[in-house]
Amino acid sequence: MATTMAMTMATGGGGVVRRAGARAAQRVRLARRPESCSRSNGAARRRSSGVDCRISDLVCRAEELRWVGETTTAKEAVVVQEKEEEELRWVGETTTAKEAVVAQEEPAVDVSLGPDSRVLVTGAGGRTGQLVLKKLAEQGISTRGLFRTEKSKKKIAKMLGADARVDLVVGDVSSAEDVKAAMEGCTHVVLLSSAKPQIKKRSLVRILVKKLFRMDPGRPSFRWIENGSPEVVDYLGGKAQIDAAVAAGVKQFVYVGSMGGTQSDNFLNTIGDGNILLWKRKAEVYLAGSGMKYTIVHPGGLLNKEGGERKLVIDVDDKILETKERSVPREDVASVVVGCLGLDEAVDTAFDLASKDPEGGSTEPLDVPSLLKTLDGKSCDYALNSEDVENLVLSQ
Ligand SMILES: NC(=O)c1ccc[n+]([C@@H]2O[C@H](COP(=O)([O-])OP(=O)(O)OC[C@H]3O[C@@H](n4cnc5c(N)ncnc54)[C@H](OP(=O)(O)O)[C@@H]3O)[C@@H](O)[C@H]2O)c1
Repeated sequence: MATTMAMTMATGGGGVVRRAGARAAQRVRLARRPESCSRSNGAARRRSSGVDCRISDLVCRAEELRWVGETTTAKEAVVVQEKEEEELRWVGETTTAKEAVVAQEEPAVDVSLGPDSRVLVTGAGGRTGQLVLKKLAEQGISTRGLFRTEKSKKKIAKMLGADARVDLVVGDVSSAEDVKAAMEGCTHVVLLSSAKPQIKKRSLVRILVKKLFRMDPGRPSFRWIENGSPEVVDYLGGKAQIDAAVAAGVKQFVYVGSMGGTQSDNFLNTIGDGNILLWKRKAEVYLAGSGMKYTIVHPGGLLNKEGGERKLVIDVDDKILETKERSVPREDVASVVVGCLGLDEAVDTAFDLASKDPEGGSTEPLDVPSLLKTLDGKSCDYALNSEDVENLVLSQ
């Protein structure tokens, strides 16, 4: 496990409830497309569904569409129809989102952590993980980020810049050894690691061709990288993190999962035959039974949009999925997660999180205790599809 100490923060050590509103901060933003996407193979340009597209562009988009966040990419892609866009929102990713850093103001968030706290963020190179890492670092909270690869560790070290003090380590969440080492000295954990489906490019080409011939295009197909399935990353990796946290005497474990966990037949479970929502839920059940204090957050479709501009809503048991507004900016998820750390009201609670469409301008500053009060004591009911979760069988 490689470790890097990066930089010293101007604001100093951890503190009790501080507000970051006055501080300027950096924000990750979509930037340029990967170079490979600018190539042209001279493929035919056609007009389909009002979208001017080029086959080479669509293949490049396939690279970007790994976990279709909100992204303009998803909206532009002719391969995905409106309903599919919504479903795939959970699946896509822009390579571009990984690449850029732009300085901007960030919304305020209160943190209720003691000065001796140290937070481990796993999946720290992920799109939400890096936002949590940065928010904590900006508030002078001692933070460690766990990255799957050296490459993403280096990228985030660069993003954090020269004035943040964060410990960055590389390790695999499904390795008990790596996780134990990462957990050392940590009082709180934020789990943001997740299996990431990889779109099969051929399936996009197939869809495009069917579209051109006005046939039912079907859906793209997905695969998992080696040792990257939901069973390995979300369940075994989640369990490894929970076990290590219990052994390390962690005070609170914040698990970021997903909405849809009560729906065994949810489309997302069919991606790469991965049952991703069910494996995540199995890890959540394990966490809830671990005896450690926990908070489980189930966001809806994640958006790479500004945070602090939408009214946030929380509920339980996928009720939000029955409404129209079921997505939420990653930035807001990160703020809620950070706000839950050290917060009594967030302890032993599992809830779903979404946002209302912005009505223009900023909303009230985020107040996580008040937001949690709207739950009225409710928490997600893991008995709902417990049979399906229990019946998941490990493949080895
Ligand atoms: N996308 C959506 O619309 C949506 C909606 C609801 C909930 N969610 C859930 O919300 C959470 C955050 O989503 P996100 O899109 O911000 O996450 P993300 O960008 O997909 O990040 C996941 C992170 O986990 C890391 N990871 C994967 N396998 C690992 C391993 N074996 N060891 C260590 N790290 C590993 C990945 O590393 P690499 O990048 O190096 O692979 C990546 O940094 C996820 O649980 C996701 O499932 C997503």
